[in-house]
Amino acid sequence: MTYPPLALLARGEACFTGDLPLPPGTLHAMVATSPQAHARLNGIDRSAALAEPGVVAVLTAADIPGTNDIGNLFRGEPLLAVEEVHCVGEPYALVVADSADAAWRGARELRADWQPLPTIFDARAAYAAGQLIQPPRTFALGDVDAAWASCTTVVSGRVELGSAEHVYMETQCALAIPRDDGGLKIHSATQSPSGVHKAVAAISGLPMHLIEVEVERLGGGFGGKEEQATPWACLAALAALRLRRPVRLQLDRPDDMRLTGKRHPYSADYRLGLDAQGNFLAYEATLYQNAGCTADLSTAILERSLFHATNAYRLPNVRVTAASCRTNLPSNTAFRGFGAPQAIFVLEAAIRRAARQLGIAPESLQRQNLLRTGDAFPYGMTAADDRATACWDELSSHFDLAGRQQAVAQFNASGGPLRKGLTVVPVCFGISFTATLLNQAEALLHVYADGSVSITTGAVDMGQGVQHRIRRVVALTLGVDEARVHVASTSTRSVANVSPTAASTGADLNGEAARQAALRILAGLRPLAAELLACPPAAVVFAHDAATQADGRRIAWPELIVAAYARRVPLSALAHYATPGLHFDPSANQGRPFAYHVMGAALVEATVDVLRGTGRIDRVAVVHDVGLSLDPTLDRGQIEGAIVQGIGWMTSEEILYDENGRLLTDTLASYKIPDLYDAPAIDIRLRQDAGAAGLLGSKAVGEPPLIYGLGAYFALRAAMAAWRPLPDEVQQTPLTAERIFTQLHDL
Ligand code: MTE
Ligand code: HPA
Ligand code: MOS
Repeated sequence: MTYPPLALLARGEACFTGDLPLPPGTLHAMVATSPQAHARLNGIDRSAALAEPGVVAVLTAADIPGTNDIGNLFRGEPLLAVEEVHCVGEPYALVVADSADAAWRGARELRADWQPLPTIFDARAAYAAGQLIQPPRTFALGDVDAAWASCTTVVSGRVELGSAEHVYMETQCALAIPRDDGGLKIHSATQSPSGVHKAVAAISGLPMHLIEVEVERLGGGFGGKEEQATPWACLAALAALRLRRPVRLQLDRPDDMRLTGKRHPYSADYRLGLDAQGNFLAYEATLYQNAGCTADLSTAILERSLFHATNAYRLPNVRVTAASCRTNLPSNTAFRGFGAPQAIFVLEAAIRRAARQLGIAPESLQRQNLLRTGDAFPYGMTAADDRATACWDELSSHFDLAGRQQAVAQFNASGGPLRKGLTVVPVCFGISFTATLLNQAEALLHVYADGSVSITTGAVDMGQGVQHRIRRVVALTLGVDEARVHVASTSTRSVANVSPTAASTGADLNGEAARQAALRILAGLRPLAAELLACPPAAVVFAHDAATQADGRRIAWPELIVAAYARRVPLSALAHYATPGLHFDPSANQGRPFAYHVMGAALVEATVDVLRGTGRIDRVAVVHDVGLSLDPTLDRGQIEGAIVQGIGWMTSEEILYDENGRLLTDTLASYKIPDLYDAPAIDIRLRQDAGAAGLLGSKAVGEPPLIYGLGAYFALRAAMAAWRPLPDEVQQTPLTAERIFTQLHDL
């Protein structure tokens, strides 16, 4: 049975934060933002903004009753700038008006006195200037310095990875409503209800119990609302507190694109060494992450880059160093994959360069060096199984890798302006928040007198279907029909201190907490059911919407609940779940950060037209490790969406700033995301092995498949190289039509 909200979404009937009916007297807010990438703010002149019809107030940092700091991992991230701004688009004042239009016009009219300061936009330049968010970090294994001597092939190179815009369909939005007790109710389109909760408490000075944050659902998040939904909720809260009126703030698309952070661009140097048999012996890389102007989640993202720098390969000697570099761009943030895709690209580029130097197909090197059971990761874990090779081999046999390689070679030999290219991308992705403390969740379950069930967790549904999974798990655990179970929207009043819905852990964490809550209810019902069925408690089975025992006698669920209420058996339960066995020491970079790894492999095929410079991705075939899938359709949807998103990042999506740090690609006309016509044919085989450590034997699926999208770059490059040898220049993404054309024709 589909979860009703999926049908609501399909019919366009689902309500988002911006669709909530506005309470009478609601005001609208919009930020005035810095036109400078780095400047002193000497003074604000409110007169023109206040003269704008409809404008009610202009608020600045001085109006913040609490602390002007919404930093999460690090302090020092002001909600409204004071004295200095560090990127174009940094908010320094809030204009509140009786309509969204008036607020927007007022914000444009606001004037400030700026004194420009020196700017840095490039990560390496920031590194050279010592502009780091924290000291660089290094993950290492074996003895890389000694290993070079044993290498017969060593390749090195440089990679430049572009940024990407999240393009969630729903733009950033919040509605703050003052309460009669001096508290606030906030509706926020956030992946992190407790992140908003804490930040609103900080800026308002209110205790957290006077603030409620509720999230109905998101029209997409993709990481862009893990940290960066917070300022908009805080600004709406600030205005609501000061003016004692409800206040809504929603960005329009160009403002959302200009004012919010994106995927981190990375610049990297690598060196990979192989022995005479083609075994990877040594790998060294330096990653320069362009963090933008504040820490945001950059250091956590950088850490995940380090965790994933060796992808699905056995690399006995490794040293990867990564630096989070502060620049004068809007602060970059979480985006599906959380730094792993960038690091994996670097190694995949290195492998292809080695293959070219050796004159062999990259696939043979890749296959030979995949992780085997017991192989060490640089952070203290070892590969638990041979699933990396199992997925690869299943891909190779089921989708006829050898036959496809031959077909591509034949096609390319036949001349004409088209060339085809093929590549394989394996994936190994660690599941759990790398910050161990975030791996906990809470669920509140009520069974009502009619037998219907309500479950509330901290999970936020952003289109990935986490509520559907939770509902299924609760129904399976209680043995009731899915129709009896409703998943309520997330509210910090029902469940407290929730982790963001992120790191692909939403279902694992919240689903397990929900299951524990359901088990508690059953523990209370069991003795009663046993009594009513005249059998030992252990003989009661909860299934098919009833409690049954071996001889077939049953008591229907609604009757059981009526009896339970009459006998004063508890029908509500609160459960907490913390992923067991996790620990990580960030000073030694050793521990067990992940509950398990997700594996898989994808075959990506592309065609380029060498005359026009156009490229297209023809087909992606995937074998992906999902464990015992809770919903294969949902899993396929996640894999397809992630692949297309990854392809967009690699091919057509190019973020461009001008020399003053102003975003040029600030509309969907100048920033090209893939559409249905660009999407390749996607064939997915779900590998459903038992024994997975995730929810009911399933595995998380949200982020890892984005990495298959990297294959778009390498398949296009292979197609280009089939037409003419390409120079060993810097590998740079996205591989737009413009770059394909200029690289093929040396322009
Ligand atoms: N799928 C949809 N449709 N929309 C989204 O915003 N976000 C992705 C992924 N899939 C996203 C999505 C990201 S970045 C993450 S971390 C996971 O979903 C979060 O949800 P989960 O933990 O429930 O998988
Ligand atoms: N993934 C996603 N989001 C996060 C993480 C992570 O590992 N850590 C903190 N926020
Ligand atoms: Mo996902 S980038 O962890 O929100």
